[in-house]
Amino acid sequence: MKPRRVYLETFGCQMNEHDSEKILEILNAQNYQSTENIHEADVILLNTCTVREKPEHKVYSTLGRLRNLKEKKREMIIGVGGCLAQQEGQRLLERFPHLDLVFGTHNLHLVPDLLADIRGTGTQRCETHFYDRAPSMEVIPLVRGKVRSFVTIMQGCDNFCSYCIVPLVRGPERSRPMEKILDEVKALARRAVKEVILLGQNVNSYGKGLGRGVSFPDLLRNVNEIEGIERIRFTTSHPKDLSRDLITSFRDLSKLCEHIHLPFQSGSNRILQRMNRLYTREEYLDKVDQLREICPGIAVTADVLVGFPGESQRDFDDTIDLIQRVQFDNLFSFRYSQRKGSVAADLPSQVLHEVKRERLKILQDIQRKITRKKNRETEGKLEWVLVEGRSQKDPTEIMGRTRSNRIVNFPGDLGLIGGTVLVRIEKGFANSLRGALWQDDGKPQGNKGLGFETESAKGLTTSIHR
Ligand code: SAH
Ligand code: SF4
Ligand code: F3S
Repeated sequence: MKPRRVYLETFGCQMNEHDSEKILEILNAQNYQSTENIHEADVILLNTCTVREKPEHKVYSTLGRLRNLKEKKREMIIGVGGCLAQQEGQRLLERFPHLDLVFGTHNLHLVPDLLADIRGTGTQRCETHFYDRAPSMEVIPLVRGKVRSFVTIMQGCDNFCSYCIVPLVRGPERSRPMEKILDEVKALARRAVKEVILLGQNVNSYGKGLGRGVSFPDLLRNVNEIEGIERIRFTTSHPKDLSRDLITSFRDLSKLCEHIHLPFQSGSNRILQRMNRLYTREEYLDKVDQLREICPGIAVTADVLVGFPGESQRDFDDTIDLIQRVQFDNLFSFRYSQRKGSVAADLPSQVLHEVKRERLKILQDIQRKITRKKNRETEGKLEWVLVEGRSQKDPTEIMGRTRSNRIVNFPGDLGLIGGTVLVRIEKGFANSLRGALWQDDGKPQGNKGLGFETESAKGLTTSIHR
């Protein structure tokens, strides 16, 4: 039978990006093929985000636009999954009658059956049941010749930061058994994956509930032993769970890349307390010092919010002060967005929109300069770069990442994809670096690549909105 075509659009974070890969894996096994052309699709799926108002609006406007398409092609099925689907459930079907399917964050495995049912009966379906452990935690998307791959190590979140909706839409935190994770990483290594990114909302609390005193650094040590894997990264970690054992892992584990994403959210103790973050600015600064002492040159990136309810000018000044002190390599900054169902949504003294906008601009102007300065500091240095694919800026060039997670574009052969080569950095820009292969005796230095261009390097199989 001819495969059915599925067009999948992803909103939100890396968790969702990885879930989209899982959805495609589940559908591929049931004779679906992904397409990037929405007009030839039999099924359109949106994997959605509700962490802030903006991604939520993007989903709603995309859904609105799909109405016309559905009118022209009535047999086409439109489905919405992910965090907004989990949050809104049945309400989405009522608000958008041209929608056929809503599936929650724990229900990816049901998608093929739900699609078949809709095709058979013509009725709308909604499944947002939470499992103790979502079956999709064990779905391994062995996607076509990738160089780097996500690996789920836990689901959900128990932290309930007061601004955040994620615990409500992803459910309680559950760690995946260590053996399953290691088996997956080995399977990826056999498929020539070189870099794994261990994924979870709070990876450094990994092991909770597994019952044998298993910790996140234990997991890292085991992954570090797996042959074929050259680089390990993880995201996201919480400052409260950044143990000394994890800090020293950056010195002791050869494959662990010198980069940590460590969101701080605010530089004011008063606000941190209201956010329920369970650390102080002093503790945060101390942990960054320890990281830099153990692993000089480690790249530190973070997330930060401005305009949390009750944030005064002084609180904001404390945030700016922390940014100046730490000198982050990169920062993801957001205006606080009121999320129904979160504790902070009901706090009095919500900050005016204009004030939030102004604060975000000030913060971003400061960080832009720091990021550029840090990128410029790499000029003239030699960096090991894992080659991932064609450069997006110039398809005749190739791109890869330094161990500090900076993107480098440089002229080179597509056959180097999957290899780790020495690159001399020539120029540091705002968001990337430019370099040239370091040649000794006319030969690139480092591991050979795969010798061919991988499928995933040619282009993403799903489109992603951040
Ligand atoms: N679990 C991860 C990230 C979760 S969401 C962590 O704790 O680091 C990613 C980022 O979105 C958060 O770090 C936070 O900075 C931001 N975010 C979460 N809720 C938000 C809200 N209500 N308004 C604005 N930004 C928010
Ligand atoms: Fe949200 Fe906090 Fe959990 Fe991150 S740790 S997902 S910010 S509740
Ligand atoms: Fe990620 Fe958005 Fe959900 S940030 S966990 S997709 S709410």
